[in-house]
Amino acid sequence: MYRTHTCGELRIDHIGSMVKLAGWVQRSRDLGGMTFVDLRDRYGITQLAFNMEENADLCEQARKLGREFVIQVEGEVIERSSKNTQIPTGEVEIKITGLNVLNGSKTPPFTIEDDTDGGDELRMKYRYLDLRRNPLQAKMYLRHQLGIEARKYLDSQGFFEIETPFLIKSTPEGARDFVVPSRMNAGEFYALPQSPQTFKQLLMVSGYDRYFQIVRCFRDEDLRADRQPEFTQIDCEMSFVEQEDILQTFEGMTKHLFKMVKGIELPDFPRMSYDEAMMYYGSDKPDVRFGMRFVDVTEKAQNKGFKVFDSAEAVLGINAKGCAGYSRKDIDKLTDWVKRPQIGAKGMVWVKFNEDGTIKSAVDKFYSEEDLREWGTLADAEPGDLLLILSGDLNKTRKALGELRLEMGNRLGLRKRGEFAPLWVIDFPLLEWDEETARFYAMHHPFTSPKQEDFAKLDSDPGSVRANAYDLVMNGVELGGGSIRIHNRDLQKRMFEVLGFSDEEAQKQFGFLMNAFEYGAPPHGGIAFGFDRFAAVTGGDDSIRDYIAFPKNNAGRDMMIDSPATISDEQLEELHIRLAEKEKSE
Ligand code: AMO
Repeated sequence: MYRTHTCGELRIDHIGSMVKLAGWVQRSRDLGGMTFVDLRDRYGITQLAFNMEENADLCEQARKLGREFVIQVEGEVIERSSKNTQIPTGEVEIKITGLNVLNGSKTPPFTIEDDTDGGDELRMKYRYLDLRRNPLQAKMYLRHQLGIEARKYLDSQGFFEIETPFLIKSTPEGARDFVVPSRMNAGEFYALPQSPQTFKQLLMVSGYDRYFQIVRCFRDEDLRADRQPEFTQIDCEMSFVEQEDILQTFEGMTKHLFKMVKGIELPDFPRMSYDEAMMYYGSDKPDVRFGMRFVDVTEKAQNKGFKVFDSAEAVLGINAKGCAGYSRKDIDKLTDWVKRPQIGAKGMVWVKFNEDGTIKSAVDKFYSEEDLREWGTLADAEPGDLLLILSGDLNKTRKALGELRLEMGNRLGLRKRGEFAPLWVIDFPLLEWDEETARFYAMHHPFTSPKQEDFAKLDSDPGSVRANAYDLVMNGVELGGGSIRIHNRDLQKRMFEVLGFSDEEAQKQFGFLMNAFEYGAPPHGGIAFGFDRFAAVTGGDDSIRDYIAFPKNNAGRDMMIDSPATISDEQLEELHIRLAEKEKSE
C-alpha cells in the first residue's frame, strides 16, 4: 500500500496513528537539528518532521530531497508545536520513521505554489506542472462538478446522452471549419463539427425527443479570452416544445448547477428583448450586475448649434454616478480610452453635475444650464454625478458606449466577483445584413425558425423578421444560445433562398436534413451552453483557458506538444496533398 491517507486528511484526532503518505516535495527547511518537508498531493499539504537526534540517516536523506521529488513516508502523527492555522492539516505533523524516494525530479522551471513566478508561456509549455498548482486544481474540480451535476439534472429530466460524429462535412455557414484530409477518398476532406447542430435535429426526426451531449466543438476563428479553437458544449435538443419549455428547462438546469456547485439559489431569470438590450446597453449580452443604462439625448441635444451632435444619428449617454470629481486629466485619459481603435469613438462629451449644484460641461458654449439640466433629468443625475456622452452612427455609438459602460462599471467596482446576474435575451433578429458581401446571414444559424407572426415579412422586409432565438447571458458573458428550429421542408428551403443559396447548393450542403424533414420531423428546438464559459463565469474568471486542462494559446498553438506541426512527405502523399501540389506546379 503506497498510502494510508492523503496529504489533506490528517487532523488532531489522528494523533498517535501510524500513517503512510505519498506525494510531491513542495519544499524542505533544514533547521540543523530538525528538517521539515512539506509534502503535497491534490488533497493538501502535510508537514513531515525529520529529527537529527532520533534518526540521523533519515534526516540526511531528507536534506537531499529536491523540489517535486516523489516520495513515500511512514511515521506517527504528532501535534505540532507551532501550529499553522492557514491549512486544514496545520495542527499536526508526521514524525518520520521511514522514507522511500519513488522518483527524483529536475528543478521545475517555476514554483508550484498558489502564486507562481512562472510567466504565461512557460506555464503553457509545462502545463502538466502548472496543473499541479492548487488554483488550477480547484478550477478542474469545479468543471468536473458542473459536468457531473449537468448530467444528473438532464438525466432526471429524461434526456439521453448520445454521441454524434466528429468527422463530418464542411458547410459554408458559421465560422471557418477545421478540415481533415481523407486518405481513402483522394482530394476529399472531412470537417470537424462546429457544433452537432444538424445531427441533434436528425435525432429529433428519429424520435429521441430529449437529447444532450457534453461535446467538443471546433471552430477556426480568431481567439480571445473567452474563445478557444476547440471548446466544449452542453448541447441539448427537445421535441414537441415551444420556446417557453426550453427556457424553463434550462433555467432549471442553471439554477440546479449553481445550487449544487456554488450553494447559490439564483432567483428567476429576467428576460429582455434583443432590441431592449441594444437600446439600453449597446450589447446583446449586457452585464446586468449594475444599471448605468443608456439615455438617449439626441432630440434634446440637436439644433443648438453643436455640429457634432447635429450631424449624429444618435447622441447617447451614461451616468457615471459620483464621478463629477474627475479631474481634467482623468477625463482626458478616458477620452483617449474611447478613441482607441478597439472602441472607435471620435470623441467624448462630459457634463459634470457638481456637488454644489452647479453644472459644467465640455459643450457649455452651445448649451445653457437649463439644457444640460434636462439631459441630467433624463439620466437621473444627482449632484456628484458625471454624464458621459458619445455620438455618431447609431450602431457604432451603441457599441462604443457599451464598452465605456463596462469600463466605468469596472472602475466603480460595480462588476462584483461572486455576484451572478443571469438574463435571457430573447427575440433576436433572424437575419443580419453584411455590407461587404451584400447579403443576409443567419444571425444564429440557418435552421432557426422565424416567429410565426413575422413569416410574411420574410419576402417584403427580411431584415425586420424576428426569430424564436434566445441567449442565456450571465455577467456580460454569453453562456449559451439556441432556438426553435424550422421543421418544415418548404420553410427550410425558403430560408436557404433568403440566405442566397441556389437550390443545388442547398441540396448539396444540407440535402440530408431537408430530406429527413420529409419523413415526419416533429416540431423541435434546443440550446447549447459553452461549458468552458459556464465554468469560468461560475468560478468568477473572464478567461476560459484555465478551465481547460490543455488549452491552446492565442495563436492557436499547443505550446506543450508543439502543435500544429508539419507532417512527413509520406503522410502528405498518402493524403494526396503533396500530389495535388506537385500536379499544380507541373
Ligand atoms: P452557438 O454558436 O451560440 O450555438 O454556441 C453555443 C455556445 O458555445 C459557446 N462558444 C464558445 N466557447 C468557447 N470558445 C468558442 N470558440 C465558442 N464558440 C461558442 C458560447 C455559445 O453561447 N448549435 C448552436 C446551439 C443551438 O442552436 O442549439 C450553437 O452552436 O457559450
